[in-house]
Amino acid sequence: MKKVITVKICLGTTCFVMGAAKLQEKLKSVLEKYGDSVDVKPVNCLNICANTDTQYAKAPYVMVDNDIISEATVEKIINKIEKGY
Ligand code: FES
Repeated sequence: MKKVITVKICLGTTCFVMGAAKLQEKLKSVLEKYGDSVDVKPVNCLNICANTDTQYAKAPYVMVDNDIISEATVEKIINKIEKGY
């Protein structure tokens, strides 16, 4: 069975204000090369922004499978996906 990596982009208020919508737009074309192997899902608040004591205190947040990426960028997301292959 083929492995599918799930990328959840938080589009809650904090992440949206910090650029998540632009990030989602950029990711669309970049992730095309992975086809069905990468499933991108926009989600509402991942509830990470509310916990400023965590190491993940900087939006926008993205989850790649179960790993949280803070201050998410296309490069960080691609690096995480590549490690999953
Ligand atoms: S708005 Fe993104 S984690 Fe809360």
